[in-house]
Amino acid sequence: MKENDINQNEKEIITLAIETSCDETACAILKNGREILSNEVYTQIEIHQAFGGVVPEIASRNHLEKISEVIEQALKDADKRFEDIDEIAVTYGPGLVGALLVGLSTAKGLAYSLNIPLIPVNHIEGHIAANYIAHPELKPPFACLVVSGGHTHLVDVKSYTEFEIIGRTRDDAAGEAFDKIARTLGLGYPGGPIIDKIAKEGNPLAIDFPKAMLDQEHMDFSFSGLKSSVLNYLNSSKMKQIEINIPDVCASFQYAVVEVLKHKATQAVKRTGYNQLVLAGGVAANSALRMALAEIPNIKLYYPPINLCTDNAAMIGCAGYYASLAGKRGNLETNAVPNLKIGENKY
Ligand code: KG4
Ligand code: ZN
Repeated sequence: MKENDINQNEKEIITLAIETSCDETACAILKNGREILSNEVYTQIEIHQAFGGVVPEIASRNHLEKISEVIEQALKDADKRFEDIDEIAVTYGPGLVGALLVGLSTAKGLAYSLNIPLIPVNHIEGHIAANYIAHPELKPPFACLVVSGGHTHLVDVKSYTEFEIIGRTRDDAAGEAFDKIARTLGLGYPGGPIIDKIAKEGNPLAIDFPKAMLDQEHMDFSFSGLKSSVLNYLNSSKMKQIEINIPDVCASFQYAVVEVLKHKATQAVKRTGYNQLVLAGGVAANSALRMALAEIPNIKLYYPPINLCTDNAAMIGCAGYYASLAGKRGNLETNAVPNLKIGENKY
């Protein structure tokens, strides 16, 4: 091996990643894909709280106002300059189109002016990659349960860049169900962390909410019936003037969601034959879900720490690093794809 080759192999790759798909403006800098040098997240949650959910137009405007500052801070925290960056990874879907375009246009401008590769990243594949940062020993293949505000999927992760969806929600995403129930109960936004906390004080077996598709062989989910059932319970209790025990409602609702997710994840492990189960996405922060999945026999369970479960750019940088190693590249024509699916390449 020539000296040049050795240098080539030992060269560290510095990735700058940008994430603006929803209500977090984020930039991270990673070394060799799995080591975080900086991870800057500016959350707009407080701005959207007044509206009970994310307002797309307000999200785009705030991304635009904050993106430069967040990138500068990420460079400063990592003690890097633009000249030190080897590649730019950016979320190009799925997400809110206006929000995605802010990050994507910024990333294109940077990649073009620095003359370095642009790596478009699927946000959901980013959530999966958050686990590589948290667990240095983790390698594909594995079965992955992705549960976020917009998505609920079971995925066969065949390699760092190959994904096959083996189960999906037929209506609401798990996080969406948490958010809607919290809003109905007047608990605020986002609902997941609030319900998770209040549920600790309640009895999960107090109310028998439906656990959809539990007895069926396939690995699809449905949460809209559960949502209606909680609403019916609240309305009929009010009509009958029965006092509503909020912690019991939260605990019983959460139990119904978690039981279904656990059952289908168990099926996914059996079908794929993998002995690793990975949890990803915002709902991966749920304490009851983490405990329930840990009970599945004969698997090693992985999930990221809370700050890497919810939206961040470090996960995008990690997914981008592996996409880049596989030769994937975007260009100035790359567009935002709001309904991008897992495993799809649309650039
Ligand atoms: O992945 P994420 O940050 O954004 C999307 O890509 O959608 O997920 C946000 C979702 C929200 O629905 C939020 O309520 C939920 O994750 N979430 C939780 C918890 N923390 C966040 N759901 C249940 N339990 C939690 N502790
Ligand atoms: Zn997300």
